[in-house]
Amino acid sequence: MAKKTGTATLSFGDKSIALPMYSPTLGPDVIDVTGLYKLGGVFTYDPGYTSTASCDSTITYIDGDLGELLYRGYPIDQLAEKSHFLEVCYLLLYGNLPSANELEDFEDVVTNHTMVHEQMASFFKGFRRDAHPMAIITGVMGAMSAFYHDSLDINDENQREIAAIRMIAKMPTIAAMAYKYSTGQPFIYPKNALDYSSNFLRMCFKVPAEDYEVNPILSRAMDRIFTLHADHEQNASTSTVRLAGSSGANPFACIAAGIACLWGPAHGGANEAALDMLREIGTVDRIPEYVARAKDKDDPFRLMGFGHRVYKNFDPRAKVMKQSADEVLDLLGIENNETLKVAKELERIALEDDYFVSKKLYPNVDFYSGIILDAMGFPTSMFTPIFALSRTVGWISQWKEMLGDPSQRIGRPRQLYMGDIARDYVDVENR
Ligand code: SDX
Repeated sequence: MAKKTGTATLSFGDKSIALPMYSPTLGPDVIDVTGLYKLGGVFTYDPGYTSTASCDSTITYIDGDLGELLYRGYPIDQLAEKSHFLEVCYLLLYGNLPSANELEDFEDVVTNHTMVHEQMASFFKGFRRDAHPMAIITGVMGAMSAFYHDSLDINDENQREIAAIRMIAKMPTIAAMAYKYSTGQPFIYPKNALDYSSNFLRMCFKVPAEDYEVNPILSRAMDRIFTLHADHEQNASTSTVRLAGSSGANPFACIAAGIACLWGPAHGGANEAALDMLREIGTVDRIPEYVARAKDKDDPFRLMGFGHRVYKNFDPRAKVMKQSADEVLDLLGIENNETLKVAKELERIALEDDYFVSKKLYPNVDFYSGIILDAMGFPTSMFTPIFALSRTVGWISQWKEMLGDPSQRIGRPRQLYMGDIARDYVDVENR
């Protein structure tokens, strides 16, 4: 728990209230308003949580002005270049980079939990073939609590641990099954001889009728995308997972809630929307028309993959993703990718336009990711499931951190009530 480093005095009416302040290791100081209602009979008001810290955390830190992202203190660009996703999972879950033995043991335990209960396959069959994969994985993740009864007790450290491993290990299998189901192709079982990202690609793209060799370029690109999306402080879906977890809900229900929230186009659904937008723009000469629409207050259109609540500089993930897009397309021999050309020109024009500069709108993680995923052969409907697959470790790490906090209580915000004052019921004949 943070230590008191100062006092803020809030004065209003005839009241003057002293509130404790805490200083973080990085970022702004906070004013603890826990006692404000008791002491002053008033609430704070911050509907979008633009100025509200919901918890203290040691997992991830974002410096929005500098465009920096740290996982347990390690810069994202170093991890994307030098680490790999399962090592990043260990780092986020346990707080430090693993030794060689610790990493080997962790990879073994995750690898040995990649299969799902065979009966879960029939659960998929209840969906229409054209169901969005996010609808399927939201349902299947929630249904995991109906299959894994020995990892539901959130008060048992061992059960929390096995639930965490199961979700990290099984999300690629579930996401791949959702994809296969949408194509009408049979499910492909995990192959434990493969690394995490190669296994996912094989489960998505192999068919029983042919051999399938994983392309190492795609596997490396996939793994990097997983690393870039793994965690991101108290974003909307992570806050959803924490709030669900604060009620004591089982781990699978909490992660299902996070998946549902991530689906929104303002959040994780933006990667699908961004590629659809780039395709709709189509050619570089149509960019000005869309930039004008994005600036038009009367037009609900926004540049998908642009802007961020925290980043007021380049999203460091977008930088790595942009480099990766160039590399992957080049290595795949995909030249003159019109969509990438439109993306780069749109970025250039937007970043020279006063509207975007003044509002500090930069490309975010979702702007370039779709171009890579599309080049890898994924339909746009699989972009957000891939984001959810990666973010599962972040959600779980934050959920475990919350449950490990002895002062943790159920989250229950208050409100600014603007409705009717008490009034008596009127019989229908008198209305
Ligand atoms: C993710 O929180 C996280 O960390 C999320 C995430 C993660 O890893 O978990 O980083 C993942 O969700 C990335 C964001 C993906 N979403 C999109 O790309 C959708 C498009 N972007 C926006 O809708 C918007 O920028 C948000 C939702 C990302 C941020 O919204 P805010 O912080 O509430 O900002 P805002 O809507 O108040 O916008 C501020 C101003 C507004 O203009 P004014 O009313 O001040 O005149 O900027 C404008 C907005 O109209 N604006 C945009 C814009 N984004 C903001 N104008 C045009 N195009 C845009 N994309």
